[in-house]
Amino acid sequence: MIDPKIVEEIKIRNPIEDVMAQYASLRRAGSNLICSCPFHSEKTPSCTVFVARQSFYCFGCGAGGDVISLVRRAEGLEYTEALEYLGRRVGIDVIDSDSDAPRFDKRRFYEMNKAAARFFRDILFNDPAGAMGREYAERRGLTPEVIKHFGLGFAPDSFSALYSHLKDLGYGDDEMNAAFLVGKSSKTGRPFDMFRKRLMFPIIDVSGNIIAFGGRIVDDSDSRKYLNSSDTPVFRKRKNLYALRYAKNFCAEKMILCEGYMDVIALHSAGFENAVATLGTAITPDQARLMAKYTKKVVICYDSDTAGKNAAEKAIKLISETGTETSVLNVTGAKDPDEFIKKFGAPAFSKLIGESKSKFRFTLDSILSKYDVTETDGKVRALSEICKMLAVVYSSAERDIYTREIAEELGVKPEAIEADTKKLIRKMDRERRNNEREEALRSVSGIGDRVNPDFVSNVAAANTEEQLIALLLLKQENRDLVLKNPDMLSPDDFITDFGKRIFELIIKSDDFSETELGAHLNVDEMSRLEQMKLKRFELTENGEKEFIGLAAALRAEKRKKSMSEGELSAAQLAEYFSTMNKKI
Ligand code: CTP
Ligand code: MN
Repeated sequence: MIDPKIVEEIKIRNPIEDVMAQYASLRRAGSNLICSCPFHSEKTPSCTVFVARQSFYCFGCGAGGDVISLVRRAEGLEYTEALEYLGRRVGIDVIDSDSDAPRFDKRRFYEMNKAAARFFRDILFNDPAGAMGREYAERRGLTPEVIKHFGLGFAPDSFSALYSHLKDLGYGDDEMNAAFLVGKSSKTGRPFDMFRKRLMFPIIDVSGNIIAFGGRIVDDSDSRKYLNSSDTPVFRKRKNLYALRYAKNFCAEKMILCEGYMDVIALHSAGFENAVATLGTAITPDQARLMAKYTKKVVICYDSDTAGKNAAEKAIKLISETGTETSVLNVTGAKDPDEFIKKFGAPAFSKLIGESKSKFRFTLDSILSKYDVTETDGKVRALSEICKMLAVVYSSAERDIYTREIAEELGVKPEAIEADTKKLIRKMDRERRNNEREEALRSVSGIGDRVNPDFVSNVAAANTEEQLIALLLLKQENRDLVLKNPDMLSPDDFITDFGKRIFELIIKSDDFSETELGAHLNVDEMSRLEQMKLKRFELTENGEKEFIGLAAALRAEKRKKSMSEGELSAAQLAEYFSTMNKKI
């Protein structure tokens, strides 16, 4: 457990509005702040930050909680990790006094990865086993300076050279395995090096720690061209970007997003030091948000093949959703940016950036390329898709400009396109409202309630439970009341497992603090508590009597339920025996 005093200090020093500002742009609304929810896509802001209570709640997706819950969700961290994150933010050391818990020491992983990177580099530069790597690096135009800058290396064609090296340095088999450096043969149980005969690209985080590796095969001995570390205790491939450590200082205006490590290296070497790449997966929402943190505009620079075009569409969507401008660069005459630079040089690439297409132009062109617009039929079908694209353009001024441009290009009246687009917008609004209604119905009836699956079959009781829990959390007096009168409300009075579990946590110790619930509950459960409190805020005006009444109502529900299940409560048994005794 972490000292509650430190937890409180961390919360005070990290106002939720400051932390939320890292993920969304906030707007004042009365005494609160509102923003577009960082956890789901939406056009109208439905996420509220309650400054006085230091909590947030999204009325769209139901995410909510305190600043710790916010960070857990946004950064994908566990409770303790989120505290460490917030502690680092304000210079407080978080010490976990529960030393029995097997936790990974991140620093040790960074050291181990660094040792591995050094090992790979020495082989590439000085070892006979690195000849293949040197040959390959030369063929790809990688100079010693570039190799050093990016920390490249070569994993030799050996069963366990790295393993022995790390073993000598004192690292254990389990650690090496968890770091994705060493695997274990399923037949013989022998440890083996994960990366063999590969040019090694260390993945380095913004602070300069080596967190993972990508390895490219140098001949065709393996069908997997690249092998990348899977997620480890220090690596989430969906949350990092290649070369961001360097790019972060050059990208305030513009960032270039490419597909491959080699593309990034070629671009940096040619002077485009604002280039980054994803790590062997398609772009994720986390990566889009990460980019938005560092830049105003992302130039998407994917391979020129169909796969690259489709990937670019997905990237446009995710990056735009963070409010960041995008444009798409068309790499012509080469398969990827690396090849382009080598063939045509840096000035030509600069020119290409200048000609990069706006997000609108890119989407429009990809629609137009699918149809023969010189024929009526093709034109009609293209226009129907174009209207769909226009319908989701939020600003009407922007929509108007595009509409005129398209009308001119296709030789149709702008009014016609406008009318069709409006019709579509109305239809989409209707659908959205229906969906919202369905969603609301679902949540009222408890269908699909993952947090409290018992809710749906005990609606009345579960509602009472939620009121009680909200009141216990909102008013210290209510908790004191229960602690003093344990007969009034006990865990066994609760019908849903979720309600019972929360209640037990609340009354477990005298010095309960709501913050610490986070150590026992996941982010969805924390969000649910926030929702319970919000819905019942007005109940706090009620006094002791109302609370006691609610407790009695829950006990009555429980009694009803036990009877219908043919089981007698303790009170009923006592009554039964006392009448029996009287009779005897
Ligand atoms: N990638 C991967 N696994 C593969 C192929 C690709 O993880 N089997 C990832 C790598 O991160 C790679 C990126 O996708 O950098 C782009 O793939 P590709 O264009 O094939 O590779 P390049 O980086 O361009 O490498 P090269 O020029 O050596 O082919
Ligand atoms: Mn490529």
